[in-house]
Amino acid sequence: MTTAPVCNLPKAIESSQTARILIVEDEPLIRSTLAEFLEQEGHAVEVAPDGETALHLAEQHHFDVVLCDLQLPGMDGVGVLERLLRISPDTIVVLVTAYGTVESAVEAFKRGAHDYLMKPLLLDEVAAKIRHLLAYRRLHLENQWLRRELHQQFDFRSIVGSSVAMRQVFELVRKVAGSRTTVLLIGESGTGKELIARAIHHNSPERDERFIAVNCAAIPEDLLENQLFGHRKGAYTGADRDVEGVFQHVGRGTLFLDEIAEMKPGTQAKLLRAIEQKEILPVGASAPVQVQARIIAATNKDLAREVAEGRFREDLYYRLNVVSIHLPPLRERREDIPELVEFLLARHVRNQGKKIRGVDHAAMQILLSAPWRGNVRELDNALQRAVILSDGPLITPADLPPDLAPDPDVCLTDDLRTAVSHFEKRHIERVLRTSPDKKEAARRLGLALSSLYRKIEELGIR
Ligand SMILES: Nc1ncnc2c1ncn2[C@@H]1O[C@H](COP(=O)(O)OP(=O)(O)OP(=O)(O)O)[C@@H](O)[C@H]1O
Ligand SMILES: [Mg+2]
Repeated sequence: MTTAPVCNLPKAIESSQTARILIVEDEPLIRSTLAEFLEQEGHAVEVAPDGETALHLAEQHHFDVVLCDLQLPGMDGVGVLERLLRISPDTIVVLVTAYGTVESAVEAFKRGAHDYLMKPLLLDEVAAKIRHLLAYRRLHLENQWLRRELHQQFDFRSIVGSSVAMRQVFELVRKVAGSRTTVLLIGESGTGKELIARAIHHNSPERDERFIAVNCAAIPEDLLENQLFGHRKGAYTGADRDVEGVFQHVGRGTLFLDEIAEMKPGTQAKLLRAIEQKEILPVGASAPVQVQARIIAATNKDLAREVAEGRFREDLYYRLNVVSIHLPPLRERREDIPELVEFLLARHVRNQGKKIRGVDHAAMQILLSAPWRGNVRELDNALQRAVILSDGPLITPADLPPDLAPDPDVCLTDDLRTAVSHFEKRHIERVLRTSPDKKEAARRLGLALSSLYRKIEELGIR
């Protein structure tokens, strides 16, 4: 899977070098000096002489940072802190303590203060602390934002399809996501197996754990075992330290085993043990290690046939196939094409920064009827290419790959009479290709020669 999150951080996160700051301080001189200094640093500053005023201001505006003296007339700093965080939980609160009241500072941390400063205040120290806290908050917000983006990317909104077949897939995904059951995904190349595997993970209670994809066909057997189970120092020449395999590394997260049918018998046996006994034996280890990974496997082969023909272990097949999800090829759910085109096109238009509104009628006819042997991946690639090549507001046939001929057997209509003519035309064309002599063709078709000429005329056969 190649889709990395497109990183367009919101403005609020980007421009947090300067902040809205509230100073809560009862000594007028300290209050004004601090306010003046922080304004010079580029911050927007407001001041309050006591807790009540501070809370009143906080109810009206959002402050990024509050510098609050611990000893105030009336409500003390800890009291202000507690009530302020209830009004505005993401405000950074820094308590200012007089020398010798470290205990109160410790108490303040326990109640949610982010930091403290000691009096007498050194202005450079205040500036540095605010910079540091803002940088920290920026990272925190960025992290939260990226996490949300990631989850959104793999939630159901980014998997398109309203066909009955896809709705059944979503239903199953929803059901299995909540459990830790092993899932087998079956589908041709490009049908969205990895996308679905990630969606299951991102909709599961372990969504914050790791998701690791391993392609079982891409690497030789011993390397695959090493990658899955790891090894101990000295297991073989060059093994100069213990290396953890992905089974351990993934923790309680999801291990996605792609192209599982290509796994060799020796590795299959070890995988079976990992699933059945929840333990693995790293290469060179003397004792097994407990593992908890959730397994999702995928294949584009008929695994039952691989079993029947002795290439895949039957016991492992049953372990993997607790729930299987079939991803239908695109040509069997052409009704999803317009929606997919809209979704995928929008992504490429955004990425390329172009102003393309959509696909014209002729191009859509081609997209609707192409064979799509490479399924959604092929459609996605064709659209990416089209977005790069297109000069106008709409994608036209000229922007599509030249070899993208409509599948002649595809009939895009539900109307029976039109469908029959469509079939008649294709059939007569095929017979004429092998028998260009009309008399011969009419005989093969079981038609009178005059009827054949009429059909050629009516159906627009050239
Ligand atoms: N239903 C869908 N909605 C939106 N995008 C999809 C859908 N199905 C597939 N895609 C996109 O198509 C591409 C191929 O999907 P994916 O990699 O999941 O397929 P795959 O079955 O794992 O393919 P392969 O067998 O070739 O590895 C990805 O870019 C994916 O985001
Ligand atoms: Mg894949």
